Amino acid sequence: MSNEQKPAGKLAGKLAGKAAAITGGNQGIGKAIALEFAAQGANIFLMDRKAGTLPAVAAEVEALGVEAGHCELDVTQPDGVEAAMEAVEERFGRIDILVNCAGVFQSHRFLEYPLERWKLLMDVNVTGTFLCCQSALRRMVPRRRGKVINLSSIAGRMGAPYRAAYYASKHAVIGLTRSVAMEMAEHGINVNAICPGMVDTDMFDTVLETVGPHVDAGDTEKLRAEMLKRVPLGRMIEKEEIAKLALYLASADSDGMTGQALVLSGGMVLA
Ligand SMILES: NC(=O)c1ccc[n+]([C@@H]2O[C@H](COP(=O)([O-])OP(=O)(O)OC[C@H]3O[C@@H](n4cnc5c(N)ncnc54)[C@H](O)[C@@H]3O)[C@@H](O)[C@H]2O)c1
Repeated sequence: MSNEQKPAGKLAGKLAGKAAAITGGNQGIGKAIALEFAAQGANIFLMDRKAGTLPAVAAEVEALGVEAGHCELDVTQPDGVEAAMEAVEERFGRIDILVNCAGVFQSHRFLEYPLERWKLLMDVNVTGTFLCCQSALRRMVPRRRGKVINLSSIAGRMGAPYRAAYYASKHAVIGLTRSVAMEMAEHGINVNAICPGMVDTDMFDTVLETVGPHVDAGDTEKLRAEMLKRVPLGRMIEKEEIAKLALYLASADSDGMTGQALVLSGGMVLA
């Protein structure tokens, strides 16, 4: 194996030896972030409600020359969140980086929006982020360092029909991020959010499938093409591009940045 082909391992890379906890790390953007961080030398702890494939993702992470742990976690459960953060500390001795990626999407007409669905989205997207931030930050504060990255969305920077709960939840994630950042600044901890545009994941499939019937778009491919017309760069954002932005926010390169909600959307939303 040539040097270029060798994984960065623990001693090299922008996150060498750091311990990163990633919720929603089983797939999609969370998994891409896990692999990017691992390639930069971070040890990774994956947490997800879907536990079935976590061992396989952990094995992919370890193949990059770092350590990986994982646990089943529903981010809406305070005791479970606490136990998961404890498990990260037990495994790696500390938490340097928290990425809140766990999230859900649903679409309904507002006048018929089921209260239970509203509560579910708020619970996972907002309360889950709150609980994970609180539990990890209680561990970061005494060490006077840490990086927290919350996944908001362009949905946190605009409005759209049939998506009230998701859009409200992603606005809330930005408000939470900004407020917590102001409180954590004196402890030397950075708290920022990422606002992705359209990224091809299971969640985006759910967007196409559940918004489609409301807008009479025909099939999901037609709706995708319609939605792409609203992106000045005319393309989806790759999950690996989001992972590179997360790497910036997790590394010392962004030590001077906090309370931000960075948009990566192909120009769809101007920050
Ligand atoms: N895909 C997009 O276009 C897009 C755009 C903007 C923002 N985002 C945000 O990025 C994040 C990741 O989304 P994705 O596209 O990778 O979606 P995804 O559906 O592929 O992954 C989401 C992950 O969260 C997990 N999860 C859901 N509920 C959970 C819970 N209660 N506890 C723990 N884990 C739970 C799922 O099991 C899944 O692994 C989400 O917060 C999403 O809102 C996605």
